Amino acid sequence: MSGARPDYDIDAWRRRIPLLASHIPMNNCSQAPQTDVTRAAAERYLESWNTSGMDWDTWMEEVGLAKAEFAKLIGATADDIAVFSSVSEAASAVASALDFSGQRTKLVVSEAEFPTVAQVWLAQERRGARLSYAPVRDGMIDAAVYDTLIDERTVLVSACHGYYMNGFVQDAARIAARAREAGALSFVDAYQTLGTIPMNVRATGMDFLVAGNLKFLMGIPGIAFLYVRPEIVETLRPTVTGWFGRANPFAFDAKSLDWSPTASRFDTGTPPVINAYVARAGMEIINAVGPAKIRAWLEVLGARLIDGGRARGLTLHGTDDMRCKTATTAFVVRDSHAIEEAMRARGIVASARGSVIRLAPHFYNTIDDVDRALDILADVEHRT
Ligand SMILES: Cc1ncc(COP(=O)(O)O)c(C=O)c1O
Repeated sequence: MSGARPDYDIDAWRRRIPLLASHIPMNNCSQAPQTDVTRAAAERYLESWNTSGMDWDTWMEEVGLAKAEFAKLIGATADDIAVFSSVSEAASAVASALDFSGQRTKLVVSEAEFPTVAQVWLAQERRGARLSYAPVRDGMIDAAVYDTLIDERTVLVSACHGYYMNGFVQDAARIAARAREAGALSFVDAYQTLGTIPMNVRATGMDFLVAGNLKFLMGIPGIAFLYVRPEIVETLRPTVTGWFGRANPFAFDAKSLDWSPTASRFDTGTPPVINAYVARAGMEIINAVGPAKIRAWLEVLGARLIDGGRARGLTLHGTDDMRCKTATTAFVVRDSHAIEEAMRARGIVASARGSVIRLAPHFYNTIDDVDRALDILADVEHRT
């Protein structure tokens, strides 16, 4: 491996990822690779199911441990976390707790939201909501636009932390503070940043933070977590609800609708148990390596991608400033899906999105991985 190294034992971590024997995964903005521990976690559930027939106490405990691991990643406690099967579902539950019948009907949404989140807010127009969009220009959002968009008619501001297209990072603390000042709530989708950028929800001050697990959290589809600021939780009554949102889910009273005093009031039905096993194992990896150390290494790899892409005549999408960028780097290509396929045939797993191909390394990737991915991308792009 050439030159620089991260501040952890990268070789030991690489040994835990079987896919590295045949591929270079650079698609972490889409799906992280399997590790021995995430696989073992799934097998632990299968074994428990197989040998005990049913062990709900242990399975529910495991869901609680997954919530706690997510909480640890963001500087919260397990009581501040609800569990869902997707970010879309979590956003829908938040939306269902909002009231658009008064003066406040405005939802400030960024054009950089992953469409599913914006679509949840758009669906609220039937309930009286009106959307105002923070525009994307040259793959970025000017932070100052929120100062004018957020006003006394705003119910909630929805701002993705990292832009799925090119990794552009918004200043979540600034947006949350502006929302709070105007009496509005803030909702941050951190799916593209959690695990690669340290996050502390208490210091940052947002009301809601949501993320799923299959990208930089090293997990699988079918599970997502929602943080709800404990100071507001008892003011919210989501109509997307179910028995796990009750003070005592096992009261079995079909004639009452009480509310858990914690963020579990946002829980709905039986949680995704096997997914929680895997999610916890994935997040344990990230917490063990440490988001600050991961960030430091990904800044090195990100700069290498930007400079190396430029040197190979590739066209960058969005900013080249690593201070407001994740490790995901996007290049504009002629046919992103054909490029993805051609790269995969040569051992590089990249991720196509519309007009761009994304190269998204993670903590286990090396400088050699980045250089090889760039060489192959330049080769297939310049050849097509
Ligand atoms: C930032 C972001 N939010 C949300 C999603 C999708 O969320 P879900 O499919 O869990 O609803 C994605 C990508 O899949 C994403 O990149």
